[in-house]
Amino acid sequence: MRLLILLLLPLVAIAQDDYCFSKDTSRLQTRQFSSKTAYQIVKGTDIDKQYLVPGCQPQKMWIFHRHGTRLPKTSMIKKAPRVAELRDLIIKNYQVARTKPETDALCQTDLIAIKLWKWNSSITPDMEEYLTAQGYEDLRGTAKLYQRYYPSVLPPTFNDTYYQFRHTDTQRTTESFKAFAEGLFGSQNDAHPVEIPKQDLLLRPYDYCSSFKDVNYKDEGSEYFKFHQSKLYNDTLADISTRLGFLYNLEEADIKLMYDMCRYEQAWNVDRNSVWCGAFLPEQITVFEYLEDLKYYYGSGYGFPENAHLNCRLVQDLLTHLSNPVSPHVVAHFGHSTGLLTLITALGIQKDDIKLRADNYDSLTSRRWKSSLIDPFAANFVAVKYDCPADLDREKAVFFLNQQAVQLDWCSVGLCKWSDVLEKYKTIADADCGEYYCRTGGAPSLGSGVAGLLATTLAAMLVYLMH
Ligand SMILES: *[C@@H]1O[C@H](CO)[C@@H](O)[C@H](O)[C@H]1NC(C)=O
Ligand SMILES: *[C@@H]1O[C@H](CO)[C@@H](O)[C@H](O)[C@H]1NC(C)=O
Ligand SMILES: *[C@@H]1O[C@H](CO)[C@@H](O)[C@H](O)[C@H]1NC(C)=O
Repeated sequence: MRLLILLLLPLVAIAQDDYCFSKDTSRLQTRQFSSKTAYQIVKGTDIDKQYLVPGCQPQKMWIFHRHGTRLPKTSMIKKAPRVAELRDLIIKNYQVARTKPETDALCQTDLIAIKLWKWNSSITPDMEEYLTAQGYEDLRGTAKLYQRYYPSVLPPTFNDTYYQFRHTDTQRTTESFKAFAEGLFGSQNDAHPVEIPKQDLLLRPYDYCSSFKDVNYKDEGSEYFKFHQSKLYNDTLADISTRLGFLYNLEEADIKLMYDMCRYEQAWNVDRNSVWCGAFLPEQITVFEYLEDLKYYYGSGYGFPENAHLNCRLVQDLLTHLSNPVSPHVVAHFGHSTGLLTLITALGIQKDDIKLRADNYDSLTSRRWKSSLIDPFAANFVAVKYDCPADLDREKAVFFLNQQAVQLDWCSVGLCKWSDVLEKYKTIADADCGEYYCRTGGAPSLGSGVAGLLATTLAAMLVYLMH
């Protein structure tokens, strides 16, 4: 009897050790999917305490909204058959070849879930990067939420003096705008955006800036490249192959495909588990997250100081509109990940004291730069301007990122003096954006710098008076 117990013990221990995604109630790794994280999983939950500023009235709002959850690129949609092959290989490994590893194997429930996986065949290659139903709900939801907290700033009737909407020239941002408008004004509304210029320097400056495109953020010599070459990363790939029952190392492209399938499916159906997320251990997702964070840190973030200069026009747009007492009272832009990240960087939000590097993965676990929390699908930056009649500094502002008040050390628990805002961003406010960073490519901006700011304000006032 004693012998039997001794013999059984290791088996029991192994069985308990197996991580099981479908039985994990917290599933914290779903908060770590970088730019493919579901908004509903990471959005802030404190806005109900943060939006009310005693003695102050909200006056105006400026929003930059990333599109909601989308479909993948055509190239990935075309790889759906390969995902089905990987599914069959994994099942064969476990059930026929019996190459299940002794530790860190798939639990039975996760294995069966993978066995039953099928690609949604109504997703076809022509639907490249389309907004999904969940993506539509994401933006309808943020509009309704902000309207609930700021009913006086976001009245339920549209007119194009009061509201100014703008989106980029893509299906996913167009649909995101429509979803947002539906959230504010109901399904029968005549909300419309302003025209998209041929060169969209405001919402897509990165498309016209060769110095930005030339930055080495992921090629040889970059921190991304070094982390990708590291033993930790390499071991992670090898461990995943072993976990899935392979006696050889899978191509990285195959692992990436399963990882992307996990991230996308989790974002498309927030309330269900993506079976592919079970293929990975939580700590493996953390390694992938860091690689993504390095990519965005150097590609669009603080990794290179020039990145903070790219979104010059957008920052000026924010400052101009919120400084100006006249309409539009609400400005909302619908754009993309790079636009949001470079805006956050221009504003100095979520900046770490220590640079992210390939070799400080272990010491930066509580870094501020987490693309999953900054830039999930439907990520949104909202600046709210307040009027505080009893204060010496009447004008104040609160910035929200994904429904969480932004903490800047020169503001008081999220509440910033408007005069400090203007002072902090003076360099950008005064810059000629056409010269500030990208001399090549981008056309010189009409009216920029302080003179431009004034000109725009005067023009807006004239338009206002004429109405
Ligand atoms: C499959 O995809 C289509 C198109 O995106 C979507 O409308 C449908 O809800 C999806 N089905 C499931 C079961 O997710
Ligand atoms: C536009 O809407 C705002 C807010 O509801 C309202 O105060 C204003 O009078 C409207 N202007 C026009 C021209 O309808
Ligand atoms: C990566 O792992 C493979 C197999 O596990 C090994 O052959 C190779 O030498 C490793 N490379 C590095 C750079 O660690």
